[in-house]
Amino acid sequence: MLTVNRIQQAEEALKNKKEKMNNRYRLGYHIMAPANWINDPNGLVQYKGEYHVFYQHHPYDENWGPMHWGHVKSKDLVHWEHLPIALAPGDACDSDGCFSGSAVDNNGELTLIYTGHNYTDKEKDIFYQNQNIAVSTDGVTFYKIAENPVIPEPPTDSNHHFRDPKVWKYKDSWYMVLGNSTKENVGRVILYCSPDLRTWSYIGVLAQGNESLGFMWECPDFFELDGKHVLMISPQGIKKDGDLYNNLFQTGYLIGDYNYETNEFTHGSFNELDNGHDFYAIQTLLDEKGRRIAIGWMDMWESDMPTKEDGWCGALTLPREVTLGENDKVLMNPVEELNLLREIEHNTLTNVTSNSYLIETNDDLLEIKAVFDLTNCNAQSVGIKIRGINQEETVLTYHLDKQTLKLDCSKSGKVEDGVRNTILRANQELSLRIFLDRSSIEVFANEGQTTMTSRIYPTEDRLGIELFADSGDVKIKELTYWKLKDIWK
Ligand code: FRU
Repeated sequence: MLTVNRIQQAEEALKNKKEKMNNRYRLGYHIMAPANWINDPNGLVQYKGEYHVFYQHHPYDENWGPMHWGHVKSKDLVHWEHLPIALAPGDACDSDGCFSGSAVDNNGELTLIYTGHNYTDKEKDIFYQNQNIAVSTDGVTFYKIAENPVIPEPPTDSNHHFRDPKVWKYKDSWYMVLGNSTKENVGRVILYCSPDLRTWSYIGVLAQGNESLGFMWECPDFFELDGKHVLMISPQGIKKDGDLYNNLFQTGYLIGDYNYETNEFTHGSFNELDNGHDFYAIQTLLDEKGRRIAIGWMDMWESDMPTKEDGWCGALTLPREVTLGENDKVLMNPVEELNLLREIEHNTLTNVTSNSYLIETNDDLLEIKAVFDLTNCNAQSVGIKIRGINQEETVLTYHLDKQTLKLDCSKSGKVEDGVRNTILRANQELSLRIFLDRSSIEVFANEGQTTMTSRIYPTEDRLGIELFADSGDVKIKELTYWKLKDIWK
């Protein structure tokens, strides 16, 4: 079938499904597909002044399947508009899927670089992967080029995992990092270079793990940040270690110094980027304002996804600005444009000392800012309960002695394995910025020192916000909340 027909057929399937969907958990201001399944963000790019985001998408079902690229664009990173599906699989080089990849603006030609996924034996999950290009001059319709695949096979010392190209320009050359794995199943990232995005030469290994860092590194992204170089990766197969690596797969980074002449990347150890349940496959772009902006997939492989019953599954996180903090720590904060979502502001508290304060509200699209003064605080822990008081609440607790932040979703849909803990050195002050969007929570603590992202599935009508202190009082410096806009309505 011709690509145009495949895309039309997929659009038709989405339209039909949309009419039958149950909207109880649909998000109000996050990127989702019109219906059915999505996973990784792909192809983050600014093109002709607009932001484009693509995503791994199965338009025929609420479960993962032959991967297409869904497509949205926005002028402001807040109001998104769906465009027709950009890539459909089924050609010789991508017979079973157009897997994750990236986008660049090549002198006015919007170029997508993606992985072709091809089974030789689907039952036994035996496959090969290659790298391909599709181009567009209107930012809507994409043509796969005749030279595909532009990289037909992995280097000889690698196994068959060979995917998720992220491309950028440095001086006059294009560079590509790819997720890969050695013959001994050790995760690594490899590097290629090209003068024209068509012919690629293999440069070598950019970074490689060991047995404890997983069998495959998915979705690499490599960029300069304030003079350092950051390699973001999504390793598969790291074992849980106390409060670390609690999700099936992780997303995190290595930071250090890179030399383009010698391809030497000297870096420190692996750090997780987010400490919630549902954060994976992050990708970034450098926008025209010079900001490094990141978006992740806001779910996790093999987890419970109750929205499948409703005919859809998966969403992307809010766009986050990535900056470098002290001690080479990568920080993530909501991009400032997200203030455009604010509809009604309620400033309810300033400088009040208490151990409990409750706001009854039925709003389920909220931004909350809560600032606790921890100097001279005699409480053991302080925190906030949100969405569904008592019965189905989601609870964030900061434990002053242990200096840990805990996100507890065990009453809000994550009955098993509902708790995540992470270290946060909040000495003087704990500042929480929380975005609630019906079935998601994103927490930015102390200006991005810690973020926690999880999907939640409360069913209660009685929502609310409750600040608390255990075994003592706390001075609440500020509590402000905003009712947020539903951009899809
Ligand atoms: C990451 C990933 C990628 C792959 C894509 C397939 O979540 O497994 O490595 O390209 O999803 O949908």
